[in-house]
Amino acid sequence: MKVDRRFRRGACYALGLFFVLVTTVRAATGSDAETGKTLYAIHCSSCHGATLYGSVNAPSLRNVSRAALDFWLGTGRMPAHLPYAQDIHQRPIFSPAQIASLTEFVMSQSRGSTIMPHVDNTGDLVRGRTLFIMNCAACHGVTGSG
Ligand code: HEC
Ligand code: HEC
Repeated sequence: MKVDRRFRRGACYALGLFFVLVTTVRAATGSDAETGKTLYAIHCSSCHGATLYGSVNAPSLRNVSRAALDFWLGTGRMPAHLPYAQDIHQRPIFSPAQIASLTEFVMSQSRGSTIMPHVDNTGDLVRGRTLFIMNCAACHGVTGSG
C-alpha cells in the first residue's frame, strides 16, 4: 500500500504542476488583448471613446477592419494628437508587439473585416504608373504630390 500512497502523492504533485502550467500559459496568451485594452485606454479612448463608438474628435472603430488598423498604426498615423495639423508621427510610437495587442483588442470589439490583403513590391513598375495615371492622378497628381 506504501507504493500506492507514494504513487498517489506523485500524481497529486503532477496534477498540481499541470494546473500551474495551464494557468501560466493561459495568463500569457490572455494578456495580449489585456495589454491592448490598457494601451487603448491610455492612447485612444480620449478620441475614439471608451466603448469605441467615437466622439466629436474621431470616428467610431466599431466597424474598423484589421487592414485599416495595420495601416493607421503601422505607419504611425495613430494615435493622432490635437491639433491635427501636427498629428503625423514619422514612425509608429508602438512596438510591433504593442500594435498586435492593440489590434487584438480593437478587433475583439469590431465587426470589421479581418482579411489582411497581402502586399508585395515585386510588381510591374511601368504598369503601375499607367494604372496610377488612369485611376489616381486626377486627385493625387501625376507625381503623387497631391
Ligand atoms: C487626438 C485624437 C485621436 C487619438 C488619440 C486617436 N485617434 Fe484614431 N483617429 C482620429 C481621427 C480624427 C481619425 C480620422 C482621420 C482621418 O480620417 O483622416 C482617426 C482615425 C483612425 C482610424 C481609421 C478609421 C477608419 O475607419 O479607417 C483608426 C484605425 C484609428 N484612428 C485608430 C486609433 C487607435 C488604435 C488609437 C490609439 C492608439 C487612436 N486611433 C488614437 C483621432 C484620434
Ligand atoms: C476622387 C479623388 C481620389 C482618387 C481618384 C484617389 N484618391 Fe487616394 N485619397 C483621396 C483623398 C481625399 C484622400 C484623403 C482621405 C482621408 O484622409 O480621409 C486619399 C488618401 C489616399 C491615401 C492615404 C494617404 C495618407 O497619407 O494617409 C492613399 C495611400 C491613397 N489615397 C492612394 C490612392 C491610390 C493608389 C489611388 C488610385 C488607385 C487613389 N488614392 C485614388 C482622393 C482620391
